[in-house]
Amino acid sequence: MNLNIIPVKWTEEGVAMLDQRLLPTEETWLMLKSYTEVAAGIKDMVVRGAPAIGVSAAYGMALGAKQFVGTNVDDLEEELEYIGDVLAATRPTAVNLFWAIDRMKQTFKTAKAAGKSVSEIKQILVDDSKAIHDEDIESQRLIAKFGGELIEDNSTVLTHCNAGALATGGVWGTALGVIRGAVDAGKHISVIADETRPYLQGARLTAWELMQDDIPVTLITDNMSGHVMKKGRVQAVVVGSDRIAANGDVANKIGTYMVAVLAHRHGIPFYVAAPLSTVDLNCPTGEEIPIEERDIREVTHVKNIQLAPDDATVSNYGFDVTPNDLVTAIITEKGVARAPYTESLKKQFEQ
Ligand code: MRU
Repeated sequence: MNLNIIPVKWTEEGVAMLDQRLLPTEETWLMLKSYTEVAAGIKDMVVRGAPAIGVSAAYGMALGAKQFVGTNVDDLEEELEYIGDVLAATRPTAVNLFWAIDRMKQTFKTAKAAGKSVSEIKQILVDDSKAIHDEDIESQRLIAKFGGELIEDNSTVLTHCNAGALATGGVWGTALGVIRGAVDAGKHISVIADETRPYLQGARLTAWELMQDDIPVTLITDNMSGHVMKKGRVQAVVVGSDRIAANGDVANKIGTYMVAVLAHRHGIPFYVAAPLSTVDLNCPTGEEIPIEERDIREVTHVKNIQLAPDDATVSNYGFDVTPNDLVTAIITEKGVARAPYTESLKKQFEQ
């Protein structure tokens, strides 16, 4: 396995991000030297994927605190609130963003209550952002282990979007972690990757990432997934998630719902892999999950090539919600949750 895909890194100079907008044709790293640059990196999708967004936001909070000038802890608290608001305004659906910002604020509060100085708190925040990153990688490792056990030898797994190392703190990934876990266990696995219109994370990122690891991958257009299932080419579907409601409804990249309906029609298990930082117990159902709507130019154009008539009316939803009854199981770092999810997910938080 290629252990080198880590899309975001803390450095003494700032936050380094692999520019995912340029993959697979260019591997370029950007150095983001302020929290506003980190926020822009998340908004502009230099980094994307729910857990990777969370790790980046934690680093953004730490960087903003590090650059605070002053010695008054209350002033630093006010500044951190503001930095959190700027980072939170970048993308609405992936709950890991809000989870990471809240955790960093909580870390600040604990340090303040313990009477720490501004310079001590700065270091505590840097340390905690690194811990969030390490914990994320460890969660993916466990997801890979638990999920890999569910995939049978000689299976072909269909996946949608990119829920790989690139979409997380790195190394494993969530959905691709499950695939890597099965491969690590010695199983012969191949992958069918939906290209994932309009932003093409499947074509640009998933195909690239799996090819780095020599895991056989076949790229298809999104509208081929029903056909390949009907032909018996798919034994399991595994996807990631941007936010899972308390009842197990799953928000993920637009098109995931369509894949889940097709999997159900063909009797193919539909697995969702995500860390508990993606589970939002404050969202009772998928109805309450905010769905990002993105620039319509992603639909009307590919790079600078115009595909649609001038002034065409266009919708560009970034995500959809798959209802829990279409989900065979949700794999987290705590194990495999099955319906009824309201109970099984809650139980995982208590473990
Ligand atoms: O818009 P993106 O690329 O951030 O969307 C990413 C996805 O939908 C992924 O499938 C999801 O975040 C799971 S990532 C482990």
